[in-house]
Amino acid sequence: MRFGVIGLGSAGRSHLDVLSRMPEVEVVGIADLNPEYVKTLGERYGVPLATTQPEELIADPSIDVIAVVAADRAHYPLVMACAAARKHTLCEKPIATEVGHGREMVAAMREAGRLFCISLNNRGNPVNRRIKDVVDAGTIGHARMVRLIGLMAAPDNHLVRERLGEKAAYSRLVNICHEGKNAMFDCGVHSFDYARFLTGSDFRRIEAMGYSMRGFEYPDHGVALCEHENGILTVVDKGFDYAYEAQTRKEYVRYEVIGDRGSLAWDLDHQRLRVFARDQTLDEPLPYASHDADREVIYRGFIESVKQGSLLPWLASGEDGLKAVEAAQTAVDSMIAKGVITRDVGPGPNWFDGRGW
Ligand SMILES: NC(=O)c1ccc[n+]([C@@H]2O[C@H](COP(=O)([O-])OP(=O)(O)OC[C@H]3O[C@@H](n4cnc5c(N)ncnc54)[C@H](O)[C@@H]3O)[C@@H](O)[C@H]2O)c1
Repeated sequence: MRFGVIGLGSAGRSHLDVLSRMPEVEVVGIADLNPEYVKTLGERYGVPLATTQPEELIADPSIDVIAVVAADRAHYPLVMACAAARKHTLCEKPIATEVGHGREMVAAMREAGRLFCISLNNRGNPVNRRIKDVVDAGTIGHARMVRLIGLMAAPDNHLVRERLGEKAAYSRLVNICHEGKNAMFDCGVHSFDYARFLTGSDFRRIEAMGYSMRGFEYPDHGVALCEHENGILTVVDKGFDYAYEAQTRKEYVRYEVIGDRGSLAWDLDHQRLRVFARDQTLDEPLPYASHDADREVIYRGFIESVKQGSLLPWLASGEDGLKAVEAAQTAVDSMIAKGVITRDVGPGPNWFDGRGW
């Protein structure tokens, strides 16, 4: 299957790496606005069409599938162009930064009659899948309450700056904290999508509160309480304030599901699944998989979908991607309407004060 990849930043490189290892895939085109990325990666992967003009790649009739891995704000124009060219499209999360754009994208891809998948990779992750299997098997009875905690280092955390360099870290900060509406929207879409996937139920209402450590327009950290149509409650606790100062650990991740016959829990520190239920108790190793491994699972599913002509039901469709941004936007709006709490991060720099790195 012949692929084109648009967007060659940190996620785009991971997509390229994953695709280049898949024997059934040929990456025949790559595009990014940054000519350095295009040149370096074009040479490294021996890609025949390496361009700073994504439209060239979208217009290439020999390409079957386009992966849109560019910055969030570029998803809308790029996917609309893919729909016009009738390309099967896999787009990174969030589907769009504006709900209205997401709706247009879903409609355009449907009209084009091509497959449209959003890379909401929790659906491919072994930890999330095992939790879903245990819940679906009824081991803990009927699920009542889901808690999804995901706290990450800020995109300008010193570990990130050392790895990417100041300039790239600053551009990431702008992408995520300003254009991406911070953690609750940018990364929260994974949790809102997983909550729907896990419970099999849409949201009835969502309320949230958040706080801001460094005066960002959108809170660094928020907690959303979501009621599903089937009565399950999900708490999404999402933030970039974790580990501003930590030397080594960059993430705090914990999932819990409480049912009427038991409970389960998994966390990143121990990487074990623990189930305490009426009929059985489990304590098993459940290692975290890398984003690359998740992406490979998603790509395998998408390639299978293209071959059979319809999206496999466990993959996130455009509609699922849209529901995730609708939920995330509702949470962001709720946090702002309630009044963002401000906290002082201390004497550290405010990387967002427009010093123009
Ligand atoms: N699924 C996940 O877990 C996950 C993780 C990280 C990033 N992402 C998503 O992947 C996408 C890229 O993120 P990133 O971390 O690589 O960001 P990045 O800032 O490292 O790279 C973004 C790239 O997009 C390019 N770009 C911007 N507009 C473009 C356009 N119109 N045409 C072509 N290229 C364009 C930029 O030049 C840059 O190279 C984002 O949508 C992000 O939300 C998803």
